[in-house]
Amino acid sequence: MKTFYIETFGCQMNAHDSEKVIGTLLAEGYSQVETLEAADLILYNTCSIRDKAEQKVFHRLDQFKKEHGKGKVFGVLGCVAQQEGEKIFERAPHVSLVAGSASYTKLPQLLVQLESGDRRVTGLSLDTEEAFETPFARRGNPHRAYITIIEGCDKSCAYCVVPFTRGPERSRTSESVLKETRELARMGYTEIQLLGQNVNSYRDPSAAAWDFARLLRAVGEIDGIRRVRFTTSHPRDFVKDIIDAIDENPALCNHVHLPVQSGSDTVLSRMQRLYTRDEYMRRIEWMKQARRDISITSDIIVGFPGETEDEFEGTLALLEEVEYDLLFAFKYSRRPNTPALALRDQVPEEEKSRRLVILQEKQRSIQIRRNSALVGVIEETMVEGYNQATGQWIGRTSQNRILNFTHPVLAGPGQGQTLLGKYWNVRVTRAGPNSLAGEAVA
Ligand code: 5AD
Ligand code: SF4
Repeated sequence: MKTFYIETFGCQMNAHDSEKVIGTLLAEGYSQVETLEAADLILYNTCSIRDKAEQKVFHRLDQFKKEHGKGKVFGVLGCVAQQEGEKIFERAPHVSLVAGSASYTKLPQLLVQLESGDRRVTGLSLDTEEAFETPFARRGNPHRAYITIIEGCDKSCAYCVVPFTRGPERSRTSESVLKETRELARMGYTEIQLLGQNVNSYRDPSAAAWDFARLLRAVGEIDGIRRVRFTTSHPRDFVKDIIDAIDENPALCNHVHLPVQSGSDTVLSRMQRLYTRDEYMRRIEWMKQARRDISITSDIIVGFPGETEDEFEGTLALLEEVEYDLLFAFKYSRRPNTPALALRDQVPEEEKSRRLVILQEKQRSIQIRRNSALVGVIEETMVEGYNQATGQWIGRTSQNRILNFTHPVLAGPGQGQTLLGKYWNVRVTRAGPNSLAGEAVA
């Protein structure tokens, strides 16, 4: 039996790509092991979105080297593989496979090449028309399943490496997405997360020509599916019909992640984001005026080239105006190939760090304020874990908040009695900046 070990970094797309890779390898007769020492084939699924991603990858590959010479084969997958390509063979000669996400459909052929002793196997072409169909995805979570609906990205945000690592947009047919969802529902999955670098620009390639809102509605109507989430959205393509769909169907989670990146029009323009602050705020208004209480989260980049103190203040003001429930904030990081590389006037590292701290402190106080308002409320949670140390079940609300709770009878997942995967009503009793705590309601 051939064995493999895989490490995964990056976004949910990457996590799901690994599920597809694992499924494909299992179908090819490999078995998965938990340590690199036990593996014949060692795969590293990489991310290159920020920071010194390439250096980190080469550092980790160096650590793998101690296993070299034991007949093991090493492969680099994902965004750093796509970005660095064959250069990886030069810097890490023990690597035999370099493949980007657009090539995973060819994985069985690539494996044959590896098995026949080829030590320079690549899958780097981006000109694929097919969106990845997933006959073999081996999902890691028994209740929540990821489904890719669109691959790649046709935008050209000045800071972003994704168009270079994942290629142009390709949507999957609605029929194929619905078929996979129905199969998952039959297998007992109750939550679906629709994935894409920009799900809002989804366009059904079949004659039906559905847009994203139409697909979202249809997925939410499938029997057995109790929760549907989607990520990630680009504000420019985010239409009101998506909010109307959420309002109409409680199975569509009342949470929207809508990355703004900056609250300043001049920065947004330099970032080539294709919307203004006002246009973004219009979308926020749609959500605030919805019948359901929609939780809004976002991504922000501080210290984009030339960002002045005034421009940064614009972002702080936007935070106050929107009142996000959660924010992912990052220091701008120069990425290979991206348009922003050509911009002068880099913000010094210490200044980026200073702005990041200020932003995070402001957001923390907003979260404390917003979460505290939920004390006393009853929320339906999907139970996804149990914390032995605190004796609490870990639940997640439709709004995507973590709600840890105690249950008077079911104290722990033993004796066949478990809440895992169940939906349970919980009364919120305490609120922190990042999570809620409560008690199960009968
Ligand atoms: N530097 C810093 N943050 C970045 N992001 C994407 N590219 C960069 C970069 N070069 C952030 C954006 C995006 C999130 C996934 O990562 O905020 O929404
Ligand atoms: Fe990282 Fe972006 Fe690639 Fe996801 S798509 S793995 S976030 S670089």
